Amino acid sequence: MKKISLTGIKPTGDLHIGNYFGAIKPALELANEYDARYFIADYHALNTMKDPKELNTTIRQVAAGWLASGLDPEKVIFYRQSSIPEVFELNAMLMAFTAKGLMNRAHAYKAAVQDNAEKGDDTDAGINMGLFTYPVLMAADIIIFDSDVVPVGKDQVQHIEMAQDIAQSVNANYGKQVLKVPQAAVQENTALIPGLDGRKMSKSYGNIIPLFTPEKQLRKTIMRITTNSQTVEEPKNPDESQIFQLYKLFAEPQEETDLANRYRAGGMGWGDAKEELFRVVDRTLAPIRRRYDEIMADIPSLDKILKQGAEKARPIAQSTINRFRKAAGVD
Ligand code: TRP
Repeated sequence: MKKISLTGIKPTGDLHIGNYFGAIKPALELANEYDARYFIADYHALNTMKDPKELNTTIRQVAAGWLASGLDPEKVIFYRQSSIPEVFELNAMLMAFTAKGLMNRAHAYKAAVQDNAEKGDDTDAGINMGLFTYPVLMAADIIIFDSDVVPVGKDQVQHIEMAQDIAQSVNANYGKQVLKVPQAAVQENTALIPGLDGRKMSKSYGNIIPLFTPEKQLRKTIMRITTNSQTVEEPKNPDESQIFQLYKLFAEPQEETDLANRYRAGGMGWGDAKEELFRVVDRTLAPIRRRYDEIMADIPSLDKILKQGAEKARPIAQSTINRFRKAAGVD
């Protein structure tokens, strides 16, 4: 039997090329090797997104983004968290095995508390129970499908460790393996994707290159990449240029060598380097963008894909819940 890979996708904000190379592409590659279950974590998003229209739209945008990027719903079970009631039943059961002290140590919660303290606010200000217990729901997402590996970024490793702790407390209590203990699959080797200003590409820095922006807009965005004051004539070091770091993600090996030589030879200005970057980025993104627009133009079909995914997922979820209820004496 193939091992199970599972990951959750928070429906927030525009997908950008940092998400594409850092999360989407590696997860889709893993789906060739594993039985993959990928889902939209819409109830996790509810902790921070209270505008119904916005949440409703971003759920579809993110789902369409993954499908347009190549997720095959015949191969990957692709669903919305909110369509699987068993996740929330497991969440309630796991609460009974989760130490409050464990939640106190979660990075995101601690950061929020510290933020409040620095502002002189009540330390609980703006913190809802959804945020405080976020790691338990995430553990339920993972454990419900007997997941073996969870592909995530480094920032999520603590959450996976907490899922391990929680599953282990359950198993220790009943003296047998009721729940599978998951492992993190951290994408160590994905290069840092620089944003327009050279810092890590992140929505919170406002330095992203969106995945699904029209061609004209994409070009404008790439032209905004910050550069130093080197003149056209000066030879340039490709390894110190974020334009070149981005170029490498999209270019063929030969193109990469050729452009590196042009950098080193001098006589190529930053404007030319950006034109070259735009050319390879648009070449890769144009077909993905086209698929995305098609999917977004037919929301009922998109919803049907997600519903069919939930139908495949629920019997698996039910069997985990039944196993746990039986072990717990609530069957
Ligand atoms: N917390 C993850 C993030 O912010 C999203 C997520 C929710 C998740 N549930 C999950 C990731 C389960 C992996 C497994 O990106």
